[in-house]
Amino acid sequence: MKINSAEFLISNTDISKCPTPSFPEYAFIGRSNVGKSSLINMICERSKLAKTSGTPGKTQLINHFLINKNIYFVDLPGYGFAKSSKQQRNKWSKFTHEFLKTRSNLLYTFVLLDSRLTPQKPDLEFMEWLGLNHIPFVMVFTKLDKLSSSEKNKNISNYKKEMLKGWEDLPQVILSSSTTKLGKDEIWDLIEQTNMDFSYQYH
Ligand code: GTP
Ligand code: MG
Repeated sequence: MKINSAEFLISNTDISKCPTPSFPEYAFIGRSNVGKSSLINMICERSKLAKTSGTPGKTQLINHFLINKNIYFVDLPGYGFAKSSKQQRNKWSKFTHEFLKTRSNLLYTFVLLDSRLTPQKPDLEFMEWLGLNHIPFVMVFTKLDKLSSSEKNKNISNYKKEMLKGWEDLPQVILSSSTTKLGKDEIWDLIEQTNMDFSYQYH
């Protein structure tokens, strides 16, 4: 995919103030610090489009971006950020869940998972919630550049095994690295294919 333009539109916690749902939309979600904002920047070929940080909890709002004037990307705040207050976590959870359930143009949610970690409860619970609510998602493992190839194989197959305890079929799995650009083409292929599948709604 050629990226001709990528612009930040608006940040908020008020779903009614999100941009009019007139284009196909893709959300990026996962635990704090997993690399959501970095992945958006990598696939959009813009280093400063979404704000990244070494300190978890950087993204705290629903951030909309407009790509090539016809696709929305949404950078969502990270869940499982231990340092935030319970009140903040509840607030995050409320508007994010509401957003994912009600946004009519949301075609796919990319759930980012740190490839260095064993399956984590908040991630497994979150994906279960998506499944129960029929929200289409793919699993994107991040930071693959930090693993050797044997660690990579071990961690990914462990994860799949854990998922298969609760799921009959696994969602699509994409391996990524914002450093090496691994996963970029696969993510765009999925987006382009999905846009085609839904083109009757957006043209
Ligand atoms: P929050 O907004 O706080 O929820 O975090 P986030 O998920 O948006 O993570 P962010 O993109 O800000 O990245 C967190 C840290 O991980 C930063 O220091 C990034 O440079 C680093 N990082 C992100 N992706 C990768 C990757 O693929 N490889 C490596 N080596 N580091 C990465
Ligand atoms: Mg972020």
